[in-house]
Amino acid sequence: MRKYIAMHYLVSLLILLLVGCADRDASPQASAATAEPAGLKDAASFPIGGAINIRRVNEDAKLRAITTTEFNSITSTNDMKMYRIAAREGQLDFARADSTVAFAEAQGMRMFGHALVWHYGLPDHIAGLQGAAMADFLTAYIDTVVNHFRGRIDGWDVVNEVLDTKGGGMRRSPFYQQLGTDYIGLAFRTARRADPDAKLFINDFGTERDTAKVTGLLALVDSLRGAGVPIDGIGLQWHQQMGDDTAVVRSTLRRAAATGLLIHVSELDLIFNTHNDEAGGGTEHVQAVTPAMLEQQAERYEALARIYRQEVPAPQQYGITFWDFTDRDTWIKGFFDMGDWPTVYDENLERKPAYFGFRRGLQ
Ligand code: XIL
Repeated sequence: MRKYIAMHYLVSLLILLLVGCADRDASPQASAATAEPAGLKDAASFPIGGAINIRRVNEDAKLRAITTTEFNSITSTNDMKMYRIAAREGQLDFARADSTVAFAEAQGMRMFGHALVWHYGLPDHIAGLQGAAMADFLTAYIDTVVNHFRGRIDGWDVVNEVLDTKGGGMRRSPFYQQLGTDYIGLAFRTARRADPDAKLFINDFGTERDTAKVTGLLALVDSLRGAGVPIDGIGLQWHQQMGDDTAVVRSTLRRAAATGLLIHVSELDLIFNTHNDEAGGGTEHVQAVTPAMLEQQAERYEALARIYRQEVPAPQQYGITFWDFTDRDTWIKGFFDMGDWPTVYDENLERKPAYFGFRRGLQ
């Protein structure tokens, strides 16, 4: 009898041990090892950013959840632009910019500043400034804005789109017309003085298609650095089209990375139609999207993430930022007046094949 009890006891012990082991296999650590990354930021070895409109993020719980799940870097789509901050003559309005920075800080995210100097949408009181008055305005504006956020903005697009839409020439912006190329050096030097720790970028578009523009951009960067202008990084917007040649995307990245500067893919999206930046509109040759097309978009997103990792050495990988990340909110439709599906989340704020493609490219 005692033998039986002992045997029974042994068997029970064994079962307990086995169950214990099985339980341990199901422990959180074990499942975490095999689980999917919660968000894109968890799949990447460099920062992943989202461009946001803080009012929308505050009003829309689902959008907010996507933002905090996917990203560890934030750019404001419009609220840090001159046309917002200096909309009214003689006063600066930081309200929305401040609340965006507060949001990023509360979430422990990097805040990126976009953009100090941009020609687009300038209020009349700025566009009309002449000569020294333009230089004085620029200096005071950059000094005040960068100081306002000193220590809280990791990097700034100091100048945005200083090159012509096509080719490598200088854009004849009001700044250029009044000050020539000098306004660029002035902008960088003023920003550096106002916040010596912020990383300073030159940002432009079209570099995934237009090799002459890439040449112009890199020559400009070279001459600025030669003149001692403090520039830390190059922002490549990457408003891409499905028809773009990935070989050009790759060679641009390689050439930009050869400068040794930080490389920020600053405004990623990927459309099926064609934008025409010269005409300020788009050509809508695709009116409906099919599952096969969404798969092709996923493959392209995967390739883009992979090319960035392959061509940009890790210490120069400032990150990849999505310019709007839902097909519901994308700027493309309004700005180019056409339908499209450029992002990684669909109209109902669900992850698209493009999302999973991009994530594969990160891993
Ligand atoms: C866009 C915004 O997304 C729109 O809401 C706004 O109407 C115009 O500007 N290149 C840039 C960004 O550097 O600032 C632009 O953002 C998109 C193109």
